[in-house]
Amino acid sequence: MSAPLNIKVHTPSKRYDVICGKGALRVATDKIANLGRSTGNFLLTSAKVRSACGRQLKRTLGSRVLTASIVFDDRESAKNLSTVEKVCRALVRAGADRKSILIAAGGGVVGDVAGFVAASYLRGVRLVHIPTTLVAQVDSSIGGKTGVNLPEGKNLAGAFYQPDLVIVDPLTLRTLPAREYRSGLYEVIKYGVIGDRSLFSCLERDLEKLLKRDEAALGYAIPRCIAAKARITSRDEKESGLREVLNFGHTFGHAIETVTRYRVFRHGEAVGWGMIAATLLGVVCTGLPVAYAARIIRLVRRVGALPLLPQCNVRKLLDAMRSDKKSRGGRLRFVVPMDIGRVKSGAEVPDDLLSTVWSELRALDRKPR
Ligand code: NAD
Ligand code: GLY
Repeated sequence: MSAPLNIKVHTPSKRYDVICGKGALRVATDKIANLGRSTGNFLLTSAKVRSACGRQLKRTLGSRVLTASIVFDDRESAKNLSTVEKVCRALVRAGADRKSILIAAGGGVVGDVAGFVAASYLRGVRLVHIPTTLVAQVDSSIGGKTGVNLPEGKNLAGAFYQPDLVIVDPLTLRTLPAREYRSGLYEVIKYGVIGDRSLFSCLERDLEKLLKRDEAALGYAIPRCIAAKARITSRDEKESGLREVLNFGHTFGHAIETVTRYRVFRHGEAVGWGMIAATLLGVVCTGLPVAYAARIIRLVRRVGALPLLPQCNVRKLLDAMRSDKKSRGGRLRFVVPMDIGRVKSGAEVPDDLLSTVWSELRALDRKPR
């Protein structure tokens, strides 16, 4: 096994390493020790992740390293303030103090909740991410966005809080259910569209290999996405400009998740529909050539069948979009492709065009791939 890669993230608030590669978990103990004196290492995870990856985690983070484990519900519908409170209270009971380290092992839900806990518990404690889903490995564990949902919208309560270390081991993906794995592939496609034409072409060529979790294909795609996220978030930690590109597909995506009350779509699936919508907008708003739009939509649809869209009126969807963090003064803003590998952010789109795109999505929903 070759040595894992070390991808650096240098944000104004923190500098940290993303250790990435097959077998990276083997170096977790040493890397955590290098973070300095700790009065206790607390594993935050879910029952599902523990039963899928517990043995792998135990082998590397045995009782020698871990002070206690705190297990919480990682369903999207439980990604809320009540779960944050429960975890904080469990940390108090377990004796975690300001010199403790939290180790979040799981998908994006575990990471977002644990990240928010780390940001707020005793006003901030150290945090290590061990992402175990594809979404978490290529996206959510890097860049410091943490937070939870409110009934009014997705991720509306949270904080920017960078981890101190991220360990990405693709071997943990072996147990990931097929639907969860496919959900991560939409985020991988996102990186191709927003800034990496070569990755996009490679995905067009090798999507079937990736669908089969081919090691070499994953060994190429995962670090490529991490490096892009590291680059973007190092330059714009708090989303005052450049970082907005990472929201490609997310305005429609978050609204679809919200109107279905986080119970129907996997996050990546909603982003899949959102990328199709934003691509259609790109044809109108930026002059994205139709042939390129067709390539993006085809690639998204090749990942697999997306869950059916909600039967809701476009008004309900627009209301959900307006309560999203990305809207400004009630005006909706979109990231739209201009080309493959180049996007424009902050595109303001009139409601009638959004309504047309929503109808087109619904029509596409009824067509075989
Ligand atoms: P998830 O966290 O819901 O995990 C999916 C499922 O897989 C869960 O049931 C989990 O228990 C299970 N699981 C996790 N690892 C496993 C493994 N190795 N084997 C078997 N089962 C495993 O889903 P996700 O797609 O990882 O994350 C989605 C969440 O991430 C959303 O809430 C989204 O908003 C958030 N997100 C955040 C950011 C960010 O920058 N903070 C970026 C993207 C997504
Ligand atoms: N997932 C979007 C971001 O991290 O900015």
